[in-house]
Amino acid sequence: MFDQASTLRRLMEEARTPQSSGASAYNNVAGVTGKISPAPRVLTVTGGKGGVGKTLTTANLGLCFVREGMRTLVIDGDFGLANLDVLLNVRADSTLEDVLVGERELKDVIVTGPEGLRLIPASSGMPRVSELGQMQKLVLLDQIESIQDDFDVVLIDTPAGVSKNVQYWAASASEVLLVATPEPTSLADAYATMKVLSQTNHETCFKLIVNMAKSDDEALRVFERLSSVANEYLNVRLDYVGMVPLCDSVRNSVRERTPYVQRYPFSPASRGLRGIAREVLFNNNAPQPKGTMQFFWKRLVAGQNVETFGR
Ligand SMILES: Nc1ncnc2c1ncn2[C@@H]1O[C@H](COP(=O)(O)OP(=O)(O)O)[C@@H](O)[C@H]1O
Ligand SMILES: [Mg+2]
Repeated sequence: MFDQASTLRRLMEEARTPQSSGASAYNNVAGVTGKISPAPRVLTVTGGKGGVGKTLTTANLGLCFVREGMRTLVIDGDFGLANLDVLLNVRADSTLEDVLVGERELKDVIVTGPEGLRLIPASSGMPRVSELGQMQKLVLLDQIESIQDDFDVVLIDTPAGVSKNVQYWAASASEVLLVATPEPTSLADAYATMKVLSQTNHETCFKLIVNMAKSDDEALRVFERLSSVANEYLNVRLDYVGMVPLCDSVRNSVRERTPYVQRYPFSPASRGLRGIAREVLFNNNAPQPKGTMQFFWKRLVAGQNVETFGR
């Protein structure tokens, strides 16, 4: 059990200190503790539509990052329909929800999956928390900050749609990975996601993964269509990071509860995702990240009052 109210009071105090506002906080990657350590890359995986492969991509990309030598954490941000723990075949005794209701600290709910990939699971079924309250958002960001020295990359899986929770996860990340398939409904939802996130979160850049494409050409056509409307109507940039083909090995791996990059390492899907992992890690032409999580929550606290958060 930990005291969320005292955490909140500390956050409010820190937000009032002069160095916490604006550019100084943006540049200060030292975090709450004052230690100098590079902040991890935080990537949110989203896409609007259900069933396009967000969760599978998160789990398998996490494993690719581990194989590239990155200390990687995946967070299940899909309360209620959580299934990262199922795909990674790990047992979760406590979950993110225990943190959100103040019964556990984040570091105590992290479990270890295949090859040392770390996971913060969520619970499935009747969620005790469906929509994050302001206080939960702040406490959660503070908790994530407290473990950030342990990781190089943090990947967040999100539910379908562009709910407030999805907006929160996208805002707390430095980069947004959009997963889309060639289906027109997926294209429409990917566009809607960019529209909402550009308007509510002022996102200016997205990275596109095309999943379940039949060929490179088909994937590139998806990218071209989305990128031209994103440029023209939303004034946002879309970067193509690669494609994962439609592949039986992916479906089989779900039944076998083993990530496909582990069970079928030479399948076309695994080759595609490995390329994506390297593109994301080593060919990062994104604009300057939006800032550390600390910057995000301090900005949030600074713009609010105690009463709002006290509720
Ligand atoms: N590249 C692929 N090839 C074949 N089937 C896929 C592929 N990607 C995803 N799938 C199928 O789609 C289903 C939904 O994937 P999932 O990651 O749970 O989607 P989401 O999280 O977006 O709802 C998987 O269970 C799998 O059967
Ligand atoms: Mg999912």
